[in-house]
Amino acid sequence: MPTPISEVDIPVISTEQPASESERRESLRQLTEGHWIARADLGYVIATHDDCAAMLRDRRWFSALSLIAETQNYENPEWSKRDRKSILSTEGDDHQRIRRIVSSAFTPKSADRLRPFMRDVVNELLDPVCERGESEFVADVCEPYPIPIICELLGAPREDWELFSRLAVDIFRVFNGNLAKDGPKIIAAGEEMDAYMLNLISERRSQPRDDLLSDLIAAEEEGDRLSTDELLSMANALLLAGTDTTRNQLGCAVALFAQHPEQFELLRDDPELAPGAVEEVMRYLGAVRGTARYASEDITYKDVLFPKGTLIFPNFVAANHDSEKFANPTKFDITREPGIPHLTFGSGAHFCLGAFLARAELQEAFMVVARRLPGLTLNGEISWKPMQNGIWGPESLPIAFLEGH
Ligand code: HEM
Repeated sequence: MPTPISEVDIPVISTEQPASESERRESLRQLTEGHWIARADLGYVIATHDDCAAMLRDRRWFSALSLIAETQNYENPEWSKRDRKSILSTEGDDHQRIRRIVSSAFTPKSADRLRPFMRDVVNELLDPVCERGESEFVADVCEPYPIPIICELLGAPREDWELFSRLAVDIFRVFNGNLAKDGPKIIAAGEEMDAYMLNLISERRSQPRDDLLSDLIAAEEEGDRLSTDELLSMANALLLAGTDTTRNQLGCAVALFAQHPEQFELLRDDPELAPGAVEEVMRYLGAVRGTARYASEDITYKDVLFPKGTLIFPNFVAANHDSEKFANPTKFDITREPGIPHLTFGSGAHFCLGAFLARAELQEAFMVVARRLPGLTLNGEISWKPMQNGIWGPESLPIAFLEGH
């Protein structure tokens, strides 16, 4: 008979927030040494690479995103309608069907198509920075960078970048934990985006272009296509999943490069290290540090019973520093041998759909930054977002450099 998780003797994670990311990592390591799981406030933290990956690959664990409204006792039929359709929160056959149809539009080739555009965007953002000789890198580059990419991806013209920036701010309120206050704003932004996208979809239906929206419209798997509602929901999910993640990951990267000048020099000397540098940055300091799942039924794993409804939190920070998987895990080394993948893109059914795109965005940004900001260094203290943020990175990142090019 499996032992119910409530009766298993495991460490308890304190709700107190450690002061820094390295402290958090260290305290988690100490707490879970010899344990793969620890008890937390609302559920259980999963602390090893193997167990995080195995549990994320087990489709009986459902994404807890769909519980956001329920856990906050937020009732709004419009909310439930929108939530049910999102790739981020659907499960089972419905989720598999959407993934099957859209995956052909998220290939390395479709990401590569945008590389010249990505390069242009970073260069344009860096032009005034290079003239000034210093920068608050988050405001100057990280914040604006992903919006033009998502717009280009969806086929929205330059004059609408501002609109998407504004909509993204409201749509991101979903992560603020206060739906009673923010729910109507989030729904309104979603509806505004739907109205905009409806126009764009009808344009692309009559005149397809070489862009992701046209690919999504055309995407078909065994005679099955996305409905208009599903296309709208997909556009919304892309803005939600593809913007704040990328900007925070870029902020984490530049903070790391400023703190590790020898690694930055390696990248400067050999831009071909960019792909490995992206993987190492994401392993060492990932912007998404974990996720949440709930048991859709009673689940037995490693002879432990997780009753239906149990919440688990696969912890990517712990998994990415698992010494069973990564030699010398606390060392930041962009020349690390490729091998075990980090978990910052997740694993299993909900593995990041935009991973190729995100990698391309980061690789292009790394190469331009390395070339144009020689001698990159900190020009003041980094201030970090609150530790409890699901998507995390520097709030402000003052940098200086030798004469920029
Ligand atoms: C560095 C940047 C990024 C990181 C760290 C990241 C991370 C993640 C993670 C961890 C998940 C899985 C969440 C879970 O299992 O609960 C995910 C899912 C997803 N990501 Fe990303 N992401 C990034 C960029 C992007 C971009 C650029 C796009 C697209 C434009 C994107 C689109 C998506 C979508 C659509 C999903 C949901 C997939 C599904 O549920 O089947 N992501 N991402």
